[in-house]
Amino acid sequence: MSNEAVVMKNVCKDFKVLNRHEGLKGSIRDLFSRDYKTVSAVKDVTLTVDKGEIIGYLGPNGAGKSTTIKMMTGVLEPTSGEILVNGRTPYKNRTENCEHIGVVFGQRSQLWWSLPLIESFKLLRDLYMVEQKDYEEMIELYRSLVDIEPILHKPVRQMSLGQRTLSDILAAFLHNPDIVFLDEPTIGLDVSMKSKIRELILGLNKEKNTTVILTTHDMGDVDALCKRIVIIDEGTKIYDNDIEHLKNYFGSYRTLKLKHADDSWEEMLIDEKTTDVMDVILEKQKQQKIKDVKILEISTEEVIRKIYEGGAK
Ligand SMILES: Nc1ncnc2c1ncn2[C@@H]1O[C@H](COP(=O)(O)OP(=O)(O)OP(=O)(O)O)[C@@H](O)[C@H]1O
Ligand SMILES: [Mg+2]
Repeated sequence: MSNEAVVMKNVCKDFKVLNRHEGLKGSIRDLFSRDYKTVSAVKDVTLTVDKGEIIGYLGPNGAGKSTTIKMMTGVLEPTSGEILVNGRTPYKNRTENCEHIGVVFGQRSQLWWSLPLIESFKLLRDLYMVEQKDYEEMIELYRSLVDIEPILHKPVRQMSLGQRTLSDILAAFLHNPDIVFLDEPTIGLDVSMKSKIRELILGLNKEKNTTVILTTHDMGDVDALCKRIVIIDEGTKIYDNDIEHLKNYFGSYRTLKLKHADDSWEEMLIDEKTTDVMDVILEKQKQQKIKDVKILEISTEEVIRKIYEGGAK
């Protein structure tokens, strides 16, 4: 058995979209002219993900993250290049591929709306032909990782967003897939639910060695879950390595936090190689009273912001 969960080789995805013209005249023109342009959503992405890894697939809005996930799950066919997920070409072996993957798109539930969660679980068990013993083991594992009692007998439509997301994640892991795709799983959730969901994902990954591919704009997710991150920008892969490696690259950066007289905190990023932190503090002190000072290591949030701002260089 190979150790690779996902192999992408020079994958591209183009969309043909209608060039829209403004105004009523433009709309009528659009009806008759077939003036298309090509949007390259994913450009020449090569990527290998090993079994059991949790990777953060990051990038600014419109970078091509969801498009990549859709190709990995077989929803979209690449324009060119090759993808193998668990050794299968996703769009060619859609049914077979689905048996071995789990998918959660944040804010879009895949569950039966009016059914209590436990009934959805039983349907999924039968659909995926999960053996009763394995099913029960999985439910036990869920119980050990998160308090599922309050949601188990609730119809999905009566759940809060957080409970629904939790349910969706549990449902995605139920047939013990080799790989689970999570597209923005913590979007819109409060801090405590976010942390519950992160613990659940970590626990499932650890117990079942499930490969997890995660897209998120929440750097808390990245800090809690991902050792390795892949960053894409305008469809092109610009970074692929451990998050630690990236932080070391920005190792001379510090976050300087200054507390003003009104107790508000001002934050700035300083490169110690070029700027003396003490000079900055003294300069600020001249302008206004500083009550407190904190100097912190660069956070994941700031590292990622710097990369995004730098563009695909
Ligand atoms: N079905 C489609 N038809 C045409 N263009 C599309 C389609 N799907 C995505 N695109 C375009 O492809 C690009 C990448 O979109 P994608 O949804 O993959 O971005 P993303 O990285 O997931 O962004 P976000 O962080 O906002 O979710 C965007 O320019 C988008 O407009
Ligand atoms: Mg997206």
